[in-house]
Amino acid sequence: MKVGGVHYRTIWPGDDGASIEVIDQTRLPHDFETVRLATRADVEHAIRTMQVRGAPLIGVSAAYGVALQMQADASDESLDAAVKGLLATRPTAVDLGHALDAMVETLRPLPAARRAEAAWLRAAALADESAAACRAIGEHGVALVEQACEAGGGARVDVLTHCNAGWLATVDWGTALAPLYLAHDRGIPIHVWVDETRPRNQGASLTAWELGQHGVPHTIVADSAGGHLAQRGRVRLFLTGTDRTTARGDVCNKIGTYLKALAAHDNGVPFWVALPSSSLDWRLEDGVRDIPIEERDPRELTHVTGRDDAGRRVEVGLAPEDSPAANYAFDVTPARLVTGFITERGLCEASAEGLARAFGRTAP
Ligand code: MRU
Repeated sequence: MKVGGVHYRTIWPGDDGASIEVIDQTRLPHDFETVRLATRADVEHAIRTMQVRGAPLIGVSAAYGVALQMQADASDESLDAAVKGLLATRPTAVDLGHALDAMVETLRPLPAARRAEAAWLRAAALADESAAACRAIGEHGVALVEQACEAGGGARVDVLTHCNAGWLATVDWGTALAPLYLAHDRGIPIHVWVDETRPRNQGASLTAWELGQHGVPHTIVADSAGGHLAQRGRVRLFLTGTDRTTARGDVCNKIGTYLKALAAHDNGVPFWVALPSSSLDWRLEDGVRDIPIEERDPRELTHVTGRDDAGRRVEVGLAPEDSPAANYAFDVTPARLVTGFITERGLCEASAEGLARAFGRTAP
């Protein structure tokens, strides 16, 4: 996607042929900065601190982390250490494990002398596959927006999204936002309600920024506004991404997604989830029981970082110093509350059968 008229992906190999570059998402929306990552430790740090974030991008970053490690030391021990270290960076997005599995599958059978080159090629292929899947999600999902527009007699389609499931969360295009970019490009009138997404504010900082860069009309709302908007008929479609979806269709996504799905259900508004196959966990069925939910530093809740009027980056506290805080980063929306999935294979029902059919597998 474009920033100031220039096409960017979120991650790319550096000019030196020995590092990668990423957009530092902790600096947005105020500063557009890129960072060079030269070692596996740099990549782990970038994932942990959320310089890179979003399920598909976490996976591709980890794949490049393995490539950086292989160029330093391509032994079996080094490969194992890379996988262990990268896997421990964030627990919820299953794309991370899938990408590391793909790297190991490619590299393990090779002699050490051939691993570095093969690792760079495999990581680049994973990046391309991920971007292509997101583009396909856009193509399939735009039909839903078009239908909603026709059903409304051509009126503007108001879509509510939570967190950032745009191109910043992926290599390119995004998941939930991909259909919206295509709809906008094709002249379908849309407007996006952007949940601020406390505590890291991915909606207010990242989704609003990328929609703005692309010229898509949007409005930032408080996380708790979705129910109110749905009750007043001001949301035609809820559309989110996912960090891990189980074989029966339970969706794990940013904390607060479940409450949006309940509000959608109560008001008869469709709740769709954009789902690349890299975010599917075929091993799990019961998402509430089995998906590991990341708990992050409570300081992300008790403090906010922003820019003051003088342009200085400042962090301020907003809670009593002795109040404990718990920072759950994700929640699970049961499949019964999900209208359907937009996948790179097309639209499908949010059920074991729907997913199995879409991906040519046997339902559990
Ligand atoms: O904690 P984050 O910012 O990595 O969480 C991201 C999300 O919850 C996205 O909605 C999710 O990764 C799916 S979008 C590609």
